[in-house]
Amino acid sequence: MKFFLDTAKVEKIREFAQLGVVDGVTTNPTLIAKEGRDFQEIVKEICEIVEGPVSVEVTALDTEGMVREAREFSKLADNIVVKIPMTREGIKAVNILSKEGIKTNVTLIFSPNQGLIAAKAGATYISPFVGRLDDNGHVGMDVVGEIVTIFKNYNIETEIIVASIRHPRHVVEAAKLGAHIATIPFEVLEKMFYHPLTEKGLEIFMRDWENYLKNR
Ligand code: G3P
Repeated sequence: MKFFLDTAKVEKIREFAQLGVVDGVTTNPTLIAKEGRDFQEIVKEICEIVEGPVSVEVTALDTEGMVREAREFSKLADNIVVKIPMTREGIKAVNILSKEGIKTNVTLIFSPNQGLIAAKAGATYISPFVGRLDDNGHVGMDVVGEIVTIFKNYNIETEIIVASIRHPRHVVEAAKLGAHIATIPFEVLEKMFYHPLTEKGLEIFMRDWENYLKNR
């Protein structure tokens, strides 16, 4: 399973990339806005740190505008993936961009049918939002499971990015279902490293080793 970092925080991307656990990055307008810096500067910095795909979202709502933004974004770096919202205008843009060889990530996916439509239009990736589904009384991971099954049934090559991840268990569930990618906020990735028994175990090993050295 590939891990993407769901953030526009350059220091965090650098920190986790050094650990060898970052296969790509996803951003969205909210995450970029939080940084309060020039959009293109942030994107270029991220693309220099990470070799894998970096998703950058369009803000136009019409096909023409989305295609124009996508073409501009794809000039920023070789690893740019253009995030397009799951709307009719968005799907039209995905169809055009896929024919131009521009990679797309269709975002704001909340149902298997939306995933299927995006894949049919030629999306490279789709992003079902599990956390927001959970927040609204659904089981987000059920949608991921259905999409995984459908894509397997028809050998669909579009990769599934499980997004809107809120806790480490979401990553485990996505991996069990066989989703290709989890895009993880750094706060969640941080938690995935730790287990209290690891800390306790290390403490015991160190204490016993010190006793051994003292009594030798
Ligand atoms: O990047 C898209 C997605 O991961 C957003 O997550 O937590 O705002 O629902 P969230």
